[in-house]
Amino acid sequence: MIDFTDLVDPEHGWVSPQIYTDPEIYERELQHVFGRSWLFLAHDSQLPKPGSFLQTYMGEDPVLVVRQRDGSVRAFLNQCRHRGMRICRSEAGVSKAFTCTYHGWSYDLAGNLINVPLEERAYHSSIDKKEWGAMKVPRVANYRGFYFGTWSEETPEFDAYLGDMAFYFDAIVDRFDSGLEFVKGTTKWVIDCNWKFASEQFASDMYHTQSAHASALLALTDDPNPIGPLNDPNVPGRQFSGNGHGSGGYFLPAPVVKTPEMTDTMFEWFKSREEEMVARIGADRLSKVSITHNTIFPNFSWLGAHSTMRVWHPRGPGQIEVWAWTYVPKDAPPKVKNEIRELTQRTFSPAGSFETDDGENWTEIQQVLRGSQARRNRLHTAMGVGYEERDAFGLPGLGNDVYSETAARGFYRHWLDMLTGKPWSEIQKWTPNGNHGELRDEGVTA
Ligand code: FES
Ligand SMILES: [Fe+2]
Repeated sequence: MIDFTDLVDPEHGWVSPQIYTDPEIYERELQHVFGRSWLFLAHDSQLPKPGSFLQTYMGEDPVLVVRQRDGSVRAFLNQCRHRGMRICRSEAGVSKAFTCTYHGWSYDLAGNLINVPLEERAYHSSIDKKEWGAMKVPRVANYRGFYFGTWSEETPEFDAYLGDMAFYFDAIVDRFDSGLEFVKGTTKWVIDCNWKFASEQFASDMYHTQSAHASALLALTDDPNPIGPLNDPNVPGRQFSGNGHGSGGYFLPAPVVKTPEMTDTMFEWFKSREEEMVARIGADRLSKVSITHNTIFPNFSWLGAHSTMRVWHPRGPGQIEVWAWTYVPKDAPPKVKNEIRELTQRTFSPAGSFETDDGENWTEIQQVLRGSQARRNRLHTAMGVGYEERDAFGLPGLGNDVYSETAARGFYRHWLDMLTGKPWSEIQKWTPNGNHGELRDEGVTA
């Protein structure tokens, strides 16, 4: 039996290591956390025409995401209703229908069963095909070209689920008139660690940068780093926490600044689009929400400075499969898109200099947790307790200094609420703008 009172304490700031290793907790996560959250499925650019499809996962459940003839996007469980084989084994492509390779049952683009081989002879025409379609993902939301799905009918609408996190998401996905696109190809790799190490770090942890990435930062560039932590321990920055989501980062001294990783061409192109970006999201937001780490609860993350978005697919308590994409401004010239792609691959990919630093830390923690004594000690998540502020730095939501664990605590509070199967009406106090009573929960008076 799980003692839920001994797993996390978001008020004082500790977590039990059990949450990263216990198979029973993991099973509950699949059901209550992944089964009830909005999960990232695909970006518009990955499904360019009717019949375009891709495979992905919602938790451990394989799903097919398909562009319909009317342009909408639907998703269904990639499991044949005959004997349970994957309906489609291709990763992505364009199709008119999906035929299971085991015995040949066929499904249309929406997952309806349309053909059963030898229907008359083998089944004596007794099969009701309407009853035996693939299991549909009942709700798919399109947010600025990003598709999210949930199995739950009770989960709030996506906008309310996102809440104030929309401000930080929009800072990246809504800054250009013509939008973003994913470059072709998904980079996939496996890390032997619990999914929460990755999700939580991207929600909440800039603190590791100066230590974990110090060497890689120096190796990558000999430029003095004007905005980084290495030459200025007092570099200003902020963190946001809300609805389990988190975002944090350093402030740029101006709306568009050349980071050490940027090429001259890339910087000049971004600089040439400054007016457009300022008009769309504002100069203040541009400078405060560009160099950022972010997670939309539970497992969709991105990095503003490195143009990477990814999902941390859980694979048991001790493993994740990372699926990562490079995003680029849709109307950038090919040379700029290519240079962004190279920047992302150099920094955040399975061979990226920073990515390997992160993965090594998570893998080692997971190895340490094989020890039974190591699983008895609570771990510390109390950085910045009591210093939370509503609308800190003029940015919406619950905020704190960039070096705090406010978003980690918010992430674990939300996770626990989900895990224990609390109804949504009790998880957060929803208000019309998607804000909620988190300050109350943090022990801060609004
Ligand atoms: S398992 Fe798919 S047709 Fe038999
Ligand atoms: Fe990192």
